[in-house]
Amino acid sequence: MIYYLIGILAVAAIQVISAIKQYENNGKLNKIHIVAASASSIYLVAMIEVFHRKTEYTIGNMLAMIFLFVPMGIVIPLVYGRIRTIQINVLIAEITAIAIMILSKITAHKVNFLMLLFPLIGWGCGFLISTSIASVSPEIRRRFIIRKKKKGHLSLIHRYEWEIVMMAFMILFSMTSGLERAAGKDFNQTLKNAISTNEKKENKYEDIYYADVDKYKRYDAYAKLHPEMSTEDVVWRVDANLDQEFYDDDYVEYVDENTDKPLLINKFHRVSDDYEPEELVTIEGKYVATQETTDAYQRLTRDLQSQGMKIYIVSSYRSTKYQKKLYNGYLKKDSKSKVDTYSSRPGYSEHHTGRALDISQVSGNLDMFEGSDEAKWVYENAYKYGFIVRYMEDQIDVTGYIFEPWHIVYVGTDISYKMHDENIKTLEEYVVKYVDHTP
Ligand code: DAL
Ligand code: ZN
Repeated sequence: MIYYLIGILAVAAIQVISAIKQYENNGKLNKIHIVAASASSIYLVAMIEVFHRKTEYTIGNMLAMIFLFVPMGIVIPLVYGRIRTIQINVLIAEITAIAIMILSKITAHKVNFLMLLFPLIGWGCGFLISTSIASVSPEIRRRFIIRKKKKGHLSLIHRYEWEIVMMAFMILFSMTSGLERAAGKDFNQTLKNAISTNEKKENKYEDIYYADVDKYKRYDAYAKLHPEMSTEDVVWRVDANLDQEFYDDDYVEYVDENTDKPLLINKFHRVSDDYEPEELVTIEGKYVATQETTDAYQRLTRDLQSQGMKIYIVSSYRSTKYQKKLYNGYLKKDSKSKVDTYSSRPGYSEHHTGRALDISQVSGNLDMFEGSDEAKWVYENAYKYGFIVRYMEDQIDVTGYIFEPWHIVYVGTDISYKMHDENIKTLEEYVVKYVDHTP
């Protein structure tokens, strides 16, 4: 609203200035000038207002800009002498253009420097029309022209005093209208929107029991990167640090040394170099695993054998030292980034827990396991014995490892059933939902 008042004030001020000037020059008021001055000031205010609302730089708006400046090109040469006309027109056109650019910047956060050109084109067209009119009918020009008394050598400010005042009003008008747009209705709306989106976001996470308040920003960032993902998936994944680089020092944690059953070992959860699980027992002659793992595995193989199949252990418990040897061995043939997709770094292997087993129907050969009947049976039945297939084909982004159908880990039947029943495919998701948080 305030900028409408300033617009009216600008028109009134231009009227007063024009009247004073008339009085100064001729001693009487020229009605044509009064009307022309009002019309031109209203026209300029309207022009800024139009572009105030049309801040996009579309072809339509650009053409409108050209046409809006045509009247200026026509009227002003009829009012002033030629040189003054050119100066004043260029000045008005450019200042108006700059005012519109500022408005666009404020309201649409965009500036198009071509805007400086369009008003000039519009004005140029008007100027041509005006000079044509003047040359066809010099009488029209004589009736309109303002003849100033010669004032000798005046300063620039003095010579263009009323034009400068007019410019000041235009600038004030456009600034005020821009400010109101920025701080007024739109601003309030923007603020309201921002608050409501924020509230929505907070509510969105608040409803999820495993969402941590201090991670809202990380959830937002991860959600932006994965627009296809549900909010629930975004939250548990960020909780599992999947928005961070694997093995990032800032996020890697040592598992609790007081427990002999660390549940989650992955690229963010490691055991110390001298970690050893308690009570390792022999399994299939030359291998060792925890008692519970061994018992569960025996139940599993008994049932598997009753179906006419047989599997062998290929790898079980590994010390961190042994894992180091393995990992360094792989590094001799593959790059580190490649090795990281199929081998854990020492300290980060589930095999350190004595609960992970690599199995195959072909003794000593893991590669033959994928696609076998035994693999299918294990995939479908392992949970009944407390095992899970740990590195699934469609969970590589979560586990950080390629598909390992042969790698099973004993988690106990409570967990394996829960994961099976709730279709939770990774220990990462389970730990976020049922260990780190409770529903
Ligand atoms: N192959 C699995 C990831 C390990 O090295 O523990
Ligand atoms: Zn393994």
